[in-house]
Amino acid sequence: MPKDIRVALVTGANKGIGLEIARQLAEAGATVLVGARDVDRGKTAAAELSSSGLRVRLVPLDLNDLASIKSAAESIKKEHGKLDILVNNAGIVDAEDGPPSAASLEAVRRIIDTNFLGTLAVTQAMLPLLRQAPAARIVNLSSSLGSLTINGDSSSPYYSARLIGYNASKAALNMLTVQLAAELQGTSVVVNSVSPGYVKTDLTGHTGFMTAEEGARLPVQYALLGEDAVSGQFVEPNGPTPW
Ligand SMILES: NC(=O)c1ccc[n+]([C@@H]2O[C@H](COP(=O)([O-])OP(=O)(O)OC[C@H]3O[C@@H](n4cnc5c(N)ncnc54)[C@H](OP(=O)(O)O)[C@@H]3O)[C@@H](O)[C@H]2O)c1
Repeated sequence: MPKDIRVALVTGANKGIGLEIARQLAEAGATVLVGARDVDRGKTAAAELSSSGLRVRLVPLDLNDLASIKSAAESIKKEHGKLDILVNNAGIVDAEDGPPSAASLEAVRRIIDTNFLGTLAVTQAMLPLLRQAPAARIVNLSSSLGSLTINGDSSSPYYSARLIGYNASKAALNMLTVQLAAELQGTSVVVNSVSPGYVKTDLTGHTGFMTAEEGARLPVQYALLGEDAVSGQFVEPNGPTPW
């Protein structure tokens, strides 16, 4: 493989926004590693993208399984020796999540385990490979619901969305963006939080204003940022989002 072809890993790429991010990155010329915890669902997604002539490969990857994260990193190291783009897309909601007074603690734990700790684990495992790329980009799929400012603003349409587990998991993810951007200052690795908008997927029960294809556009734009890329931002389709 020519050295100038970018290698991108998208977690949770078997459906929803992740599948569309994988498609758009591959259409932009990247070799895309389709991260999926369920191998069969991942194979189906990778086959769909390959059938359109796109360069993709399935990488089994479960955010809740450290061994699978380690073996994904080892296989990327062996095949490519570097990683140019990491899109931390995989995430969950939970029916037993809810307002602080009533949410199931187990549900909150499940959400934090996946959306924050799982993403942190993937990021830690991939960092040595990202450091090998000439201009690496990390995109964390956050949400406006992870904004402390928006959650506290009674005039915001998101004010009433009180899901302590989900919202806290995305606020924690934003903290990862802020701290990692500071830690990586002066290196070639840039990291940003991107809220895709309100997108019709399984996660939202197919409510929302945007298709998955539209929801993938901003994360892809940040995955492909050029040389003047700024690190440590939190953005949504309308522009910067308050933390
Ligand atoms: N949709 C929206 O309006 C919206 C808004 C703001 C932010 N987001 C964020 O955007 C991201 C994608 O959401 P989506 O709407 O596309 O949801 P989705 O259609 O439900 O897709 C979620 C993806 O994450 C994967 N995943 C879940 N847990 C995983 C784990 N432990 N290990 C590996 N993969 C796992 C799922 O795999 P399986 O198929 O195996 O379950 C699936 O591929 C999420 O981080 C979400 O929080 C979405």
